[in-house]
Amino acid sequence: MLAANALVADVLAELEATVKPGVTTAELDDLAESLIGQAGAAPAFKGYHGYPATICASVNSEVVHGIPSDRTLIEGDIVSIDMGVILNGFYGDAAVTVPVGRISDSTARLLRVTREALDKGIDQVRVGGRVSDISHVVQRHVEVHGYSIVREFVGHGIGVRLHEEPQIPNYGEPGRGPRLAEGMVLAIEPMVNMGSSAVKVLKDGWTAVTCDGSLSAHFEHTVAVTAVGPVVLTAPVHQRPASVTASGVK
Ligand code: MF3
Ligand code: CO
Repeated sequence: MLAANALVADVLAELEATVKPGVTTAELDDLAESLIGQAGAAPAFKGYHGYPATICASVNSEVVHGIPSDRTLIEGDIVSIDMGVILNGFYGDAAVTVPVGRISDSTARLLRVTREALDKGIDQVRVGGRVSDISHVVQRHVEVHGYSIVREFVGHGIGVRLHEEPQIPNYGEPGRGPRLAEGMVLAIEPMVNMGSSAVKVLKDGWTAVTCDGSLSAHFEHTVAVTAVGPVVLTAPVHQRPASVTASGVK
């Protein structure tokens, strides 16, 4: 699990460094596919229920599952890049929302609060805790800041399949749902709208967008439940356990 998820983190870091005005989301997708292949892994999303690409690239009011295209990113946009891989039979999954050039202070705040909500959710990961302890702190942090939580999509267990039990909603009362046990691995992924929580799926059958056109952000980490607390398997290279520095990317 560490190897697959470290690869996801390293490829996402490369994509993040590549994002700038003038780049297309299809170019990001091509780069991701080639880096994953060079590392001896395979994209996890391509072909999943017919999904056509390696990454999801969701721009501005697109929430999740945006299909890479010739759309050119422009200064002030935000792009959520979600990516999964399979390596040696194990899955990795993570997402980041990246600014394109300079973004407004209000947009930067949306990204910061969404990342903080993910971090607070991760802090709830402990043996004997409950799934909805994560859900609850994520929702509270987001709503305290005046934003809304998307309810139609959830985090998930991950391992030898991309989506395993349990589902991890980003809202709810604490103390509910399955207990967290040592060795479980969870993909926690808040999706946060600046305006209303309502979303709809476009005619392409994939792209989820906010109904009110407001901006949306998405951050995701894959996290192991261990006796010593949460271990973020998709942490950036400098925060990673020493046993897994080399993913083969750069
Ligand atoms: N990170 C998302 C998920 O976990 C992406 C799935 S996209 C799909 O669930 F294309 F694979 F469906
Ligand atoms: Co996921």
